Amino acid sequence: MIEDCVMTTLSAPAPPSLPATIVLIAGDGVGQEVIPAAAEVLAALGLGLKFVEAPAGFGHFMRTGNAIPAETLAAVRAAGVALFGATASPSTDVRGYQSPILVMRREFDLYANLRPAFSLPGSYARANVDLLIVRENTEGLYSGRERREGDTAIAERVITVRGSERIARMAFTQAQARQRPAGRGGPCVTIVHKANVLKITDGLFRETCLQVAAEFPDVAVNEVLVDTMALRLMRDPQAFDVIVTTNLFGDILSDEASGLMGGLGVAPSANVGGQAAVFEPVHGSAPDIAGHGWANPVGTLLAAAMLLVHIGHHTAAGRVRQAVMDTLRAGILTPDLGGTATTKAVTRRVIAGLEV
Ligand code: NAI
Ligand code: MG
Repeated sequence: MIEDCVMTTLSAPAPPSLPATIVLIAGDGVGQEVIPAAAEVLAALGLGLKFVEAPAGFGHFMRTGNAIPAETLAAVRAAGVALFGATASPSTDVRGYQSPILVMRREFDLYANLRPAFSLPGSYARANVDLLIVRENTEGLYSGRERREGDTAIAERVITVRGSERIARMAFTQAQARQRPAGRGGPCVTIVHKANVLKITDGLFRETCLQVAAEFPDVAVNEVLVDTMALRLMRDPQAFDVIVTTNLFGDILSDEASGLMGGLGVAPSANVGGQAAVFEPVHGSAPDIAGHGWANPVGTLLAAAMLLVHIGHHTAAGRVRQAVMDTLRAGILTPDLGGTATTKAVTRRVIAGLEV
């Protein structure tokens, strides 16, 4: 079992800065169930953390006309860290609605989305996986620069040297920090692109990543086309260490990678940038299961552990991850992993595990 990959969220973690304030943005749907669970676990660590609850989401938008109020953004700016649940975004254009996580990524220039996928104890997970997807988080197709010209719909895919350079540097720095053992192939960054077709945009991304690679002679570099990568994540995910890719490819591949861990309920992520860091499970608001009390809190708890590393609480982060692992090993599983436990039962067991 590989258990030390989510420990590396930033290359140079800040020293503990107590007392830290964490902004909790539960959002919509299961966000309202998994964020309180994570808050309980964080509070049980006895670190003197302070919590500020702040609203955002589609529900808030329907009530107030604002998806993410200025007060929420101000709270995140002041605290520097937030734990975000999920929000519901309609697939049609709703006037005035903007996805709160996209607003925060833009507002705080959260340019890197770190999405680890690693083996969890249980038959629902693949063995010997320990990879990290480093997804560019501000440009590319996902940034939604779209327009309609009569019967034609156009999306602009903007790739810049600046955007590619900084995400590549993050990927190589992460690979250096993770120190994949030589027996597993040593530190390696895989550049994922479609430059064989998108020769100009992905050509620039690829070329820039390869230039940055030259600054990191201790980290190996290779490249895989995105469609092949989709297959290889399924066939031989053990081959990969750090994967760096553009925004939409990273969005899609990281959902696929969550399947290696046991599904969307268990996958954590971090949005990091110069001005703040927002930690969240990879999943969305899960309207199909919201309100029943059996949402899996593990993705959010592992995201909370990434947050703890980010604010310098390495030991506490390790305690949370260990307690989560022990809970899974004990078979206290929500229905998405094949069990019958509720969100509260998993949370109680994790908290009990912190004390030993
Ligand atoms: P989803 O992640 O909400 O759900 C996909 C599947 O995973 C569902 O079967 C759901 O039950 C399951 N699942 C998700 N989280 C789970 C958990 N904690 N425990 C157990 N099972 C879990 O994705 P979907 O259905 O594509 O999108 C639903 C809504 O969420 C949409 O409005 C979408 O825009 C939004 N969304 C928001 C995100 C965010 O706020 N960062 C990210 C992804 C989607
Ligand atoms: Mg996604």
